[in-house]
Amino acid sequence: MARHLITSAIPYINGIKHLGNLVGSQLPADLYARYLRARGNEVMFLCATDEHGTPAELAAAKAGKPVADYCKEMHAVQAEIAKGFRLSFDHFGRSSSPQNHRLTQHLAGRLAEAGLIREVSEKQVYSHADKRFLPDRYIEGTCPNCGYDKARGDQCENCTKQLDPTDLIDPRSAISGSTDLEVRETKHLYLRQSDMRGKLQDWIDSKTDWPILTTSIAKKWLNDGDGLQDRGITRDLDWGIPVKKGEEDWPGMEGKVFYVWFDAPIEYIACAGEWAEAHGKTDADWERWWRTDRGADDVRYTQFMGKDNVPFHTLSFPATILGSGEDWKLVDYIKSFNYLNYDGGQFSTSQGRGVFMDQALEILPADYWRWWLLSHAPESSDAEFTWENFQGSVNKDLADVLGNFASRVTKFCRSKFGEAVPEEGTPGDREAQLIADLEKGLRVYERHMDAIEVRKSAAALRGLWVLGNEYLQDAAPWATFKEDPAAAAMQIRMALNLIRFYAIISSPFIPDAAAQLLAAMHSEKADWPESAESALVALPAGHAFTVPDVTFRKISDDERACWQEQFAGVRT
Ligand code: MF3
Ligand code: ZN
Repeated sequence: MARHLITSAIPYINGIKHLGNLVGSQLPADLYARYLRARGNEVMFLCATDEHGTPAELAAAKAGKPVADYCKEMHAVQAEIAKGFRLSFDHFGRSSSPQNHRLTQHLAGRLAEAGLIREVSEKQVYSHADKRFLPDRYIEGTCPNCGYDKARGDQCENCTKQLDPTDLIDPRSAISGSTDLEVRETKHLYLRQSDMRGKLQDWIDSKTDWPILTTSIAKKWLNDGDGLQDRGITRDLDWGIPVKKGEEDWPGMEGKVFYVWFDAPIEYIACAGEWAEAHGKTDADWERWWRTDRGADDVRYTQFMGKDNVPFHTLSFPATILGSGEDWKLVDYIKSFNYLNYDGGQFSTSQGRGVFMDQALEILPADYWRWWLLSHAPESSDAEFTWENFQGSVNKDLADVLGNFASRVTKFCRSKFGEAVPEEGTPGDREAQLIADLEKGLRVYERHMDAIEVRKSAAALRGLWVLGNEYLQDAAPWATFKEDPAAAAMQIRMALNLIRFYAIISSPFIPDAAAQLLAAMHSEKADWPESAESALVALPAGHAFTVPDVTFRKISDDERACWQEQFAGVRT
């Protein structure tokens, strides 16, 4: 039993996320959290909404609401959808929380005391047409690094380079498209990240077990020399965390707020404080997850995110943590993901392209999506969602292989032996072989899950389902029954136990189906199997069960065509 802290990149507040966002952070984080809990570990799984910055302000303006109200409402919407997908956060916080205000201001104060902050008189882009400064994402232009012509002021989506708005070539306002822009002088705080280059380099070099996707992006920006340029951490905006040095005012910084990418990762920590408050716990209760001087030195901390988030988590946030000189927990392992594409193009929030989380749940239950997304997670390369592929996986893996197994076995048993585990018969060589194969497969599955190899885990799990199907096909209890009812009883006893075994080991992927099957097996108490052998005798002779309702239904060609059509256009 160990203690695991898990965070998922916190989704922006402005709007409902699409399936590509989901599979790149929250969903695999949930898979891992559920698995670790099932294996008896103590887990703290945190996520939140990322509520500051211009996108939130603009989305609120568009909705005609004060930004604080808008954020509160959208937080509730995102929390509800997360529940719908069975994301098992211990807390789903908000980066606008009082806890995050205090901690962000505190850390900025510590960085200032450590001499890691300098004031810079900066030139910023002012848009005459929009009558405002245009920070970050609201300037578009050509990336000076790769030439991509839709790069945003904070980052180029194409090459992941972190940018400042004034770096862009041929800049234009993303709000109005206006090129009537003027550069004006304003004062801002910069974090001297470059001073921490050596420390960060050593730290990243020590992470020899990290996925290549993570370290390659981190090293690229570290070694390019300009990945660690000092970063502006304040903005001329109304909405955000007011710039203060701890609890004191910061002369010259009146009316400014911290940059959203400064406060957002700090919310990972503040969220634990929100969790404590929500559950009537003490500071010590959350600090034992986050303060290495208060018990967190034996915590293993894993972060999940899409590849575009990697520079912020490998360089910027660690610079804040290390620079504070306080004993905050640094991440132990960063699992990052490539992109999921949608039917020949990109998922796009701004263009409303693809399937969004709320729409997905209106069509089919969470488990169908969880299974497809996780078994096709974009790990080693980008992946693509197509309706054909989705239909194929659901119908084969979930309906034919797993669901049909449970249905056939329970119905056959009910008709020949009644609704209880039959007791006659003794297992033979075929059963010994099955158990040996399952044992081997179970260990492979556990190894992949421990390593957070999501696709390999899904394949291993599916392999275990297939073993049961092959056994049932070979043993053919419906035929055996005619000559040797006792042997058929034994075969069915094995198969009923397999249903329970599958429910337990599948629960991180498909929690609802797992709960349904466990309930059908009258076996709500479900410890992770010590061995395949012990798992297959867990339900003793005479143990009652109920035939479950359909676990997974098939997707028809008509339905598939209909959805394909429905989601071909743009969400309005
Ligand atoms: N909101 C960001 C995104 O969706 C992720 C923020 S992660 C954190 O890309 F580290 F800042 F919290
Ligand atoms: Zn670029």
